[in-house]
Amino acid sequence: MTNDFKPLQGMTDITGVEVLKWQQIEEQARNIFDTFGYSELRTPILERSEVFLHSLGDGSDIIKKEMYVLEDRGGRSLVLRPEGTAGAIRYLASMGEEANNLRVYYIGPMFRCERPQAGRKRQFHQIGAEFVSNPNPYADVESIMLQFELLKKWGIKDVKIKINTLGSKYDKKNINEGMLKALNKIKNRFPKNYQNRIDENVLRVFDWKDEECKKITSDLPLITSFMSEDSLTYFNKVNELLTEVDIEFEHDPKLVRGLDYYNHTVWEITHNSLGSQDAIAGGGRYTIQVGKKQINGVGFALGIERLILASDFKREENLIKKNGIWIVSLGEKAIIENMKLSNKIRSLGYRCGMELENKSIKSQLRKADKFGAKIVLIRGDQELIDNKLIEKNLENGLQQEFDLDDWIRILGEKNASI
Ligand code: HAM
Repeated sequence: MTNDFKPLQGMTDITGVEVLKWQQIEEQARNIFDTFGYSELRTPILERSEVFLHSLGDGSDIIKKEMYVLEDRGGRSLVLRPEGTAGAIRYLASMGEEANNLRVYYIGPMFRCERPQAGRKRQFHQIGAEFVSNPNPYADVESIMLQFELLKKWGIKDVKIKINTLGSKYDKKNINEGMLKALNKIKNRFPKNYQNRIDENVLRVFDWKDEECKKITSDLPLITSFMSEDSLTYFNKVNELLTEVDIEFEHDPKLVRGLDYYNHTVWEITHNSLGSQDAIAGGGRYTIQVGKKQINGVGFALGIERLILASDFKREENLIKKNGIWIVSLGEKAIIENMKLSNKIRSLGYRCGMELENKSIKSQLRKADKFGAKIVLIRGDQELIDNKLIEKNLENGLQQEFDLDDWIRILGEKNASI
């Protein structure tokens, strides 16, 4: 395909059966969110740069190199949202007290200028949820439970959940100082190009994928050793509650997540079919500063592209609708009469299509199949004069002639998908 017809690298046109999968995933998500008392929030895709700069953290890969930044005509710096939490919290902060305990969800595109590969896109889509709540292990566990219900609904099995704690926001100073001290002792064992990255964010060393670095970081003390008793009690409670609600998990003491707003519980859900980009979802508890306000919350986001890769979606054929009515016109005059009839049928709530050019019956029937028609109606000059139509049921091959008004009356009475 020449570039003229291609979307940008790392971006995809979603079409045909693929769109049906997306619609099904989104619809099922909305239903589950509704049962948990979450309401939908649609924030703009474009935000002021500060919305992200002040929340995701200077040292995060997103801020350092992945944001699509542009300038508007007034010289203001804008960003195509790389994730949904910061925008949602910007909005929720504007609500004041009313936002307390609010649960919102969002579904939509996010943009990160990463090197594209399987499961890693530059425009990807997240289904995310945020719950404005002060630190509370029960809230963290509810958020994880919600994700499991979503995955269950979509039929995604064999997922693994790893959880960890980053300590409270008050522990951060202690953790940073303690880790930095420990890191400085072994700093010169890291490859040169990694050494100056240590100061950017000490915890991120645990995220380095380089095998040599991984070996060296295994000699570091655990983050938990720099935390307060309260934070450890908090995390133990989360573990206890997850066991109580029958969610299998693994404590990964090196899980740090790539965004700076997190504190206390963090988690990642992976699927073994996904290769190197195996995270289906990530989330955690956070504190985000918006202007003078600090908002505490807990939430997560699932990547739709990765969900689809992880689910085999064998039910694809069930997604193709076979409940349409297709009208075949024999002769030019029938076209306009059938346009009127098709609109009548649509107004009764049925899917109806027809050919708008004077084509052979064979060609019109081919289109009926493409349309996913269950019933074909045929009308030519004679049927117009007699006010009749021929109905052909494509499922059982039955063909019958009807009086037009009777047929419409019956259709209206059926009140169900044909
Ligand atoms: P995140 O881990 O950066 O977290 O992204 C969440 C999910 O989005 C990932 O697990 C993955 O499935 C998907 N994802 C991320 N980047 C890409 C990409 N380039 N291509 C395809 N899929 C991708 C967040 O975004 C946080 N806002 C989650 C959160 C909400 N934490 C608290 N509330």
